[in-house]
Amino acid sequence: MSTESSLRTAYRSHTCGELRADHDSQEVRLVGWVDTVRDHGGVFFVHLRDRFGATQVTVHPDRNADAAAIAKDLHAEWVIAVRGVVNRRPDGMTNDKMPTGAIEVIADELTVLNKAAVLPFDIREADRVSEELRLQYRFLDLRNPGTMEPLIFRHKLCMEIRQSLSDQGFVEIETPFLTKSTPEGARDFLIPSRLQRGSYYALPQSPQIFKQILMVSGLDRYFQIVRCFRDEDLRADRQPEFTQLDMELSFVDEDDVLGVLEVLVCDIFKNLHGRELERPFPRIPYAEAMDKYGSDAPDLRHGHELFSLTDWAKSTTVKFLLSAVEDGGAVRALRVPGGAKFSRKDLSNLETVAKDYGAGGLLWFKFEGGEIKSPIAKFLDEAQLAAVQELSGAQEGDVVLAVSDKNDARVKKSMGELRNHLARTEGWIKPGQFAVAWVVDFPLFYYDEEEGRYYSEHHPFTAPKVDNLELLESDPGSVLARAYDLVLNGHEIGGGSIRIHEEPVQEQVFRLLGIDEEEARAKFGFLLDALKFGAPPHGGIALGLDRMAMVLNEKPSLRDVIAFPKTSSGSCPLTGAPADVDTSQLEELGIREIPKPEKTRGEDEAG
Ligand code: AMO
Repeated sequence: MSTESSLRTAYRSHTCGELRADHDSQEVRLVGWVDTVRDHGGVFFVHLRDRFGATQVTVHPDRNADAAAIAKDLHAEWVIAVRGVVNRRPDGMTNDKMPTGAIEVIADELTVLNKAAVLPFDIREADRVSEELRLQYRFLDLRNPGTMEPLIFRHKLCMEIRQSLSDQGFVEIETPFLTKSTPEGARDFLIPSRLQRGSYYALPQSPQIFKQILMVSGLDRYFQIVRCFRDEDLRADRQPEFTQLDMELSFVDEDDVLGVLEVLVCDIFKNLHGRELERPFPRIPYAEAMDKYGSDAPDLRHGHELFSLTDWAKSTTVKFLLSAVEDGGAVRALRVPGGAKFSRKDLSNLETVAKDYGAGGLLWFKFEGGEIKSPIAKFLDEAQLAAVQELSGAQEGDVVLAVSDKNDARVKKSMGELRNHLARTEGWIKPGQFAVAWVVDFPLFYYDEEEGRYYSEHHPFTAPKVDNLELLESDPGSVLARAYDLVLNGHEIGGGSIRIHEEPVQEQVFRLLGIDEEEARAKFGFLLDALKFGAPPHGGIALGLDRMAMVLNEKPSLRDVIAFPKTSSGSCPLTGAPADVDTSQLEELGIREIPKPEKTRGEDEAG
């Protein structure tokens, strides 16, 4: 005997995913969308679908002629109600692919609750149409169980986060959206004030300053699942509005913050993925990540590492190599097992990938037929060629790919991206693999050559390493930060730091960043004030919730885990936002419009 459905409503006794063999002979009422209708010689088989699953409804004309007449006219996505009796299917007639496949519902009554217009695309074949069209009709796209699933996963992720953090003594506190500019370094979205004409709110790029103030207030452990807004160029893993799991803790050092996060991430993996992750997570210094993987968010699901050919290049007489490595340039390489099979065209495609990320070209050495082949082989002696083999560990059948440039950052970037590309094309990563790590020991600042000034690598509230304090004035570029990033499968899913909690150090860092006292007061005066009133040592982190959901679901884009995402040009094809507003609304806000450039609208694409 089955128990009553907890999802019973005025319309239904059970959901479409609920009925099993032990409901046999029960009278039930189901509602949902028509997925498919098949006519087998006057007997109709209706696949009825809701969020919870699908059930086969069978309509026999000799049992109920009215129901059969309605079934005959049904179309996909009509909303119907069915009253009928559960019939356990005989052995051999069950459908093992459906959780409800042990039964069917024999209809006694069929009611159309609502019809659907002709569909712009077949929902079950949504992956064949453009993403733009799917986003425009997102309400239909989301009816696809595969599209809806990541949203349900995301809900479970939030539940897990709230439970794990509550258990660890955190409180969830909301912070304002209508606020002042925050320091994450992207462009702000601005909101003009009607009550104070000529003044603007900025939507927060993160709740950074508020959470630090909550620590000054003694809240000790704060978290928030919060929307953040950044007006920046968009990519598959970047949306203009996205969600962070934002956290801050008092009286902590790096080990404390990383420890709390590891408990949380392990809880998530265990309860949502059924996997145990090993703790502590590996910690990789930033410089090592850049050297070995060409990225500060290395994909550690495979062990292929970059290696240096810089010293080797110095031993050659090859002009372009020598000119690259003088003055701090570099040559970095990657061994591709079995890569000697690459054709001229394959190598040219790989070169295009490297060039897309700034490389001038791609050098290669093939280990084939007992020989070492390379476009520069004729300029190298035997010992120099043998050295490439020794340094790379290449075996017969491998290829070594390398980039040289005067600018080492460019070499790392292009080789790192080439490594990611090869991981995909060479099958170095298997589905269902996860690799998590911390990247630590970031520089506090980076120097912008063009502007001739320092910028914060994270944000200006990040504390310098204690034993680097005296370098702040003498050699700011060499100061390391008490910052950490959490990396999962080659994606930066979180970043944070121990903060500066003493006002004089904060002012010193502002000065180094070229923010004078007046500007510091105007922008962050309220934080500087708070730091004067007994700020405890504190630190925190923010995880990209969308990115985490994307990686855990093994989806290629954030749009796959957001109910109503924006396209690459920041538009919402469903609502048509951003859109024109009435001139009267602008007048009220004291805004006069500059005429728009031609053809900025309607050219949107989901990129
Ligand atoms: P940060 O700027 O590193 O740190 O952001 C934290 C995490 O948020 C995610 N993220 C994004 N996800 C989607 N779209 C975007 N446009 C986007 N930008 C960032 C990333 C990133 O790791 N206040 C600090 C945190 C702190 O110091 O505590 C901050 O916001 O996964």
